[in-house]
Amino acid sequence: MYRLLIKILVFISIICGAVNSIGITTVIVDINKNNYYPKYGKCGTPDLTCNNIQDAIYYFNRISPNTYQQLNLLLNDGVYNNTNNFIDNKKLNATISPITFGSVNVVFDGSKGTKSQDTLFSFTDSTISITGIQFVNFQSKSSIIKSESGDIYIDQCNFKYISSKDGSIYLKNSNGLILNSIFTSNVVQQTSDSASVISFFTNYKNKFTISKCQFNDNIALNGGAIYAKNTAILTVDNPPLSTIQNTLFNGNVATGMGGALYIDNIPLIVTSNVFTNNTSPRGSIINLNNALMNITSSSFFSGTSLNYFLSTIIYTTKSILNIDKSTFDRSFSVAINCDSSTVVTQNNNLSLRLICYNCVSIIEGVQDCKGVPK
Ligand SMILES: *[C@@H]1O[C@H](CO)[C@@H](O)[C@H](O)[C@H]1NC(C)=O
Ligand SMILES: *[C@@H]1O[C@H](CO)[C@@H](O)[C@H](O)[C@H]1NC(C)=O
Ligand SMILES: *[C@@H]1O[C@H](CO)[C@@H](O)[C@H](O)[C@H]1NC(C)=O
Ligand SMILES: *[C@@H]1O[C@H](CO)[C@@H](O)[C@H](O)[C@H]1NC(C)=O
Ligand SMILES: *[C@@H]1O[C@H](CO)[C@@H](O)[C@H](O)[C@H]1NC(C)=O
Repeated sequence: MYRLLIKILVFISIICGAVNSIGITTVIVDINKNNYYPKYGKCGTPDLTCNNIQDAIYYFNRISPNTYQQLNLLLNDGVYNNTNNFIDNKKLNATISPITFGSVNVVFDGSKGTKSQDTLFSFTDSTISITGIQFVNFQSKSSIIKSESGDIYIDQCNFKYISSKDGSIYLKNSNGLILNSIFTSNVVQQTSDSASVISFFTNYKNKFTISKCQFNDNIALNGGAIYAKNTAILTVDNPPLSTIQNTLFNGNVATGMGGALYIDNIPLIVTSNVFTNNTSPRGSIINLNNALMNITSSSFFSGTSLNYFLSTIIYTTKSILNIDKSTFDRSFSVAINCDSSTVVTQNNNLSLRLICYNCVSIIEGVQDCKGVPK
């Protein structure tokens, strides 16, 4: 529905010319052209495309008459080096996508250009939609996409070989909707405790939804793929629920805790996912702290990593964990390690009974593990 609406608006905005009464400005960037226009001058029409994103933003800033103006940035195929193709800490409502619908050839390559150490797209108080873009080869001191106090929607994007300090996507007090995207071989600095491939920080006001994505071979200190934390001091009733669904987590590694997920104080629904070969010394798949997590219809496969067998699958502290209708192939050692947590597992497909350690728990209808000393 949302995408259809955007498409209709884009269409209207194209036929009505660059600026129109309903508040959308369409600006086209073609990095393969070298058009002439004055600095801050008009560009972005089909006949006179902007040469880079900076010029597009300069022009948009100059002409956008009010804060409700929405930018529709259309990108021609090409390798965007980041010398003049970043968006710097902007307050903006924008959609960013290839001009050719479905193209996979709009590539941001961090190994080319001079600004690759900083955040590529940084937004504040913004509503942003990014569709169909490839991000590769960054070495960032921060992140690639950052949203603070906004809403961000990422669809059909790929992130590959990104090394960063704060994660490829950094969301602070923002809502994130991340769909149909693939994250492969990204790493975060091992000194950075609060970061991973997707870093999510909120004060109980925001949620993220991840659906139909793949996370392959990403590495972090805590949370090989996703790190999510509530930073508020006071608790609230019914904080927003985040969701991870229909997603594959394969071969992610945390050298600290939570091979795939590190979740701190965020209520999370985990449904219809597959976890294979993730690894960490503490919680080879998930590390859960102060949280509610409901896992349903998911599969947990050990893979070949030795560390998987040396660690517990899920490590929970002061949490409530429900696991329902899921498959575990693990065949020995302790599956769930708790500190002061309540664990209920039901209706699962187990190769062997799940063993928990130090939990207040009911495992497959049997009161288990209560009071087992550490
Ligand atoms: C973005 O749009 C929302 C309404 O959807 C509006 O409240 C906000 O002020 C807009 N922000 C900018 C920077 O245009
Ligand atoms: C970056 O791209 C521009 C064209 O948009 C080109 O002129 C410039 O040489 C490129 N720089 C690098 C370092 O690749
Ligand atoms: C979590 O699962 C439990 C047990 O199945 C259920 O009672 C509870 O309503 C679920 N919570 C949410 C937020 O879905
Ligand atoms: C599983 O992960 C380990 C490293 O953690 C790696 O060495 C191994 O090749 C992976 N196995 C598969 C089948 O991908
Ligand atoms: C149970 O899990 C095994 C793998 O461990 C799988 O082969 C089998 O199909 C599963 N059974 C059901 C009913 O899901």
